[in-house]
Amino acid sequence: MKSPQSFLRGSLVSLLLLLLTGVHIDGYKPVIIVHRGTEVKVISLYNNMASLKPMWRQVQAFRKSMESIMQESPDGVHLLCYSQGGLICRALLSTTPHHNVHTFISLSSPQAGQYGDTEYLKCIFPETVKKTVFHICYNRFGQKVSICNYWRDPHQRSRYLQYNTFLPMINGDRPNKDMKAWRENFLRIKKLVLIGGPDDGVITPWQSSHFGFFDSNENILEMRNQEFYKNDTFGLKMLDARGDVSQCVHSGVKHVKWHSNFTVFQSCMEKWLT
Ligand SMILES: *[C@@H]1O[C@H](CO)[C@@H](O)[C@H](O)[C@H]1NC(C)=O
Ligand SMILES: *[C@@H]1O[C@H](CO)[C@@H](O)[C@H](O)[C@H]1NC(C)=O
Repeated sequence: MKSPQSFLRGSLVSLLLLLLTGVHIDGYKPVIIVHRGTEVKVISLYNNMASLKPMWRQVQAFRKSMESIMQESPDGVHLLCYSQGGLICRALLSTTPHHNVHTFISLSSPQAGQYGDTEYLKCIFPETVKKTVFHICYNRFGQKVSICNYWRDPHQRSRYLQYNTFLPMINGDRPNKDMKAWRENFLRIKKLVLIGGPDDGVITPWQSSHFGFFDSNENILEMRNQEFYKNDTFGLKMLDARGDVSQCVHSGVKHVKWHSNFTVFQSCMEKWLT
């Protein structure tokens, strides 16, 4: 058996090409990894417009690969998803009946949305600041860009609810007829592992990696005070009540370093990957 470290690194090497890969290793369930981009990939994002494609379209594409991996793994799989990939994975889990994902690791993903003036934002929308991004994002055309699908401007709640076609749906902020079924699908997972930290530099607020977010005064509301939690719209509260939400916070880790930091792997992930 390879050491966990080389296992993770080995997976990531193929990730750079595949974005989603299944890896079989004796003694471990296969791990499916959805990866958004390392530092190198943030730059290649300019060239590779594919990662900016609408989230639902990416979910569809990943679903196909994931379904065949799950079929080959009757004992179940784990899902390790990084950055934007964490939102793709969550949408997949909610919209895939009968999936057999045991552990879902969300590694530095903006699960509660993104709102911040970051380098990453400047790369995608030069000359914009967070306050004005909603003009670009909250309309039919903006919603064709992935980041707009999880852009959550805390000062534009009604526009967010009206025009955002992705995050309000998977969070159940905007009621839809499939919510009950989606919640059941999501609750098939046995463990949700949320990893992030204050020195991330991209995920803003960083607490979004743990389902916290800004209120309308840009103060942080923790996961348990979020409306989608209190109403248990997509299963988060139930998972937490079951004792199946594990939160892992590390300082000193930049966004592009999460997947290669062995301390993070050992303390936050390894124990859930058996
Ligand atoms: C949560 O429940 C309250 C009271 O029933 C309701 O007014 C609100 O719209 C709900 N919010 C969400 C996000 O479901
Ligand atoms: C790895 O993670 C630890 C915290 O667990 C942190 O102190 C350290 O700076 C990180 N190293 C890198 C290169 O990100």
